[in-house]
Formats: sequence, structure tokens, C-alpha cells
Amino acid sequence: MASPVLKQGFFVAFVLTLSVFQMASASDPDITTDFIVPQNSTPDGNFFTFTGMRAAVPPDAPTAFNVTKASRAEFPALDGQSVSMAVLEFSAGSVNPPHTHPRASELLFLIHGSLEVGFVDTTDKLFTQTLQAGDMFIFPKGLVHFQYNANATDYAVALSAFGSANPGIVSLPTTVFATGIDSRILAKSFKTTVPTIHTLKRGLMPPKA
Ligand SMILES: *[C@@H]1O[C@H](CO)[C@@H](O)[C@H](O)[C@H]1NC(C)=O
Ligand SMILES: *[C@@H]1O[C@H](CO)[C@@H](O)[C@H](O)[C@H]1NC(C)=O
Repeated sequence: MASPVLKQGFFVAFVLTLSVFQMASASDPDITTDFIVPQNSTPDGNFFTFTGMRAAVPPDAPTAFNVTKASRAEFPALDGQSVSMAVLEFSAGSVNPPHTHPRASELLFLIHGSLEVGFVDTTDKLFTQTLQAGDMFIFPKGLVHFQYNANATDYAVALSAFGSANPGIVSLPTTVFATGIDSRILAKSFKTTVPTIHTLKRGLMPPKA
């Protein structure tokens, strides 16, 4: 039997670990310098400038759903700054499938067209809205959400801001059906048959070039 003192020690350690984890997951870690520069480089204005969105302004009518990201990977100056952005372009009828960003909330600003958006909270309650150009919608951190351009003729364009330099993406269709999880496990999980799971998996395979 562990002594009461030892038990209490474990409990305190457990609570401390939890609170450290909560602090760490509240936003990106604070940095102790003004900004983070890759080793052996001298930053100038160019380092703090990202030009990769020029092709999206003004937007051409997209032919599919297309995301252009400016996160830490594309724009290294964001490292340590807890922010990033993406331009989301939706052709008529296209969808951004259900997904989550484990490290960031997302503030979406619709600049053209209309967009059906929604998220599901941890009690399985669905919140949906139809946005018009000029509207903003917040997707709370870590929750499953989606966007759909229901208009059959007009495209839609949105700007999304994230509360992390590296929000990350977990796309449910891909994560569940395109990573090699055993079809028997998925069939039991989704209360369906293995052939049905195979059909879903085939639909997510990249088209052969
Ligand atoms: C996605 O958008 C970017 C920026 O506008 C553009 O350069 C790229 O060609 C687009 N990709 C597709 C598949 O439309
Ligand atoms: C689709 O978009 C066009 C152009 O913005 C608009 O006139 C039309 O009312 C929209 N259709 C629907 C069903 O919202």
C-alpha cells in the first residue's frame, strides 16, 4: 500500500501536470525573443512578408475547393506568433469536409458568395449557419466543423484566421478511411459491413494520374 503522503504527492503531481497541459494548450507557447529567425539568417522586411496569396487576390472563380495556407510551414516568421491564415476558395457546390484543427480556433470571414458552415460541440450538439459575404463565423478550437457552398452557380471565397502558427488539420474522411485502419474495426465502429467500408475507402483514394 502506498502511504497517504505518497498518494497525496501523486495527486498533486497529477493536478500540476493537468494544469501545465491546459496552459500549454491554451495557445502557442510564449517566446522569450521578439521573433524567431532561422539560424544563420539576418531578417529584413522580406522575412516578415508573405506573397503567396497574390494569386488569390482578386479571386478567380475556382474549379474545385482549394485552400492556400500561410502557416509556419509556408511563412516561417509566424513561428512563435500564435497566428496564421488561409484563403479558402469554394467552387459552386463544393465542400470542405468535416475536420478539426487541434491547436487553434478559426475565425472565418466570408468575402464572396454564400457559405453553409457548422460545427459540433463535445455534447454532440450541431451549430449551423448560412453566411453571406461580410459575415464572420468562429469555429471553436478542436471541434469538428465543415463549410459547404450550396450555391449551384456562384463560387465563394473566405479568409480564415487561426490562433496558432501551426493549427494542424485532422480531416475525418482521410483520417478514418485513408490511413489503413483495419476495415473490420471500421465496420464494427460504424455498425456496417466490410464491403461498405471498402467502398468508402476506395472513394478517398487519390485519382490515378
Ligand atoms: C489554389 O489557389 C492557389 C492560390 O490562388 C493557386 O495558385 C492554385 O493554382 C489553386 N489550385 C487549384 C487546384 O485550383
Ligand atoms: C447563387 O448566387 C447567385 C449570385 O450571387 C445569386 O444571385 C443566387 O441567388 C444564389 N442562389 C442561391 C440558391 O442562393
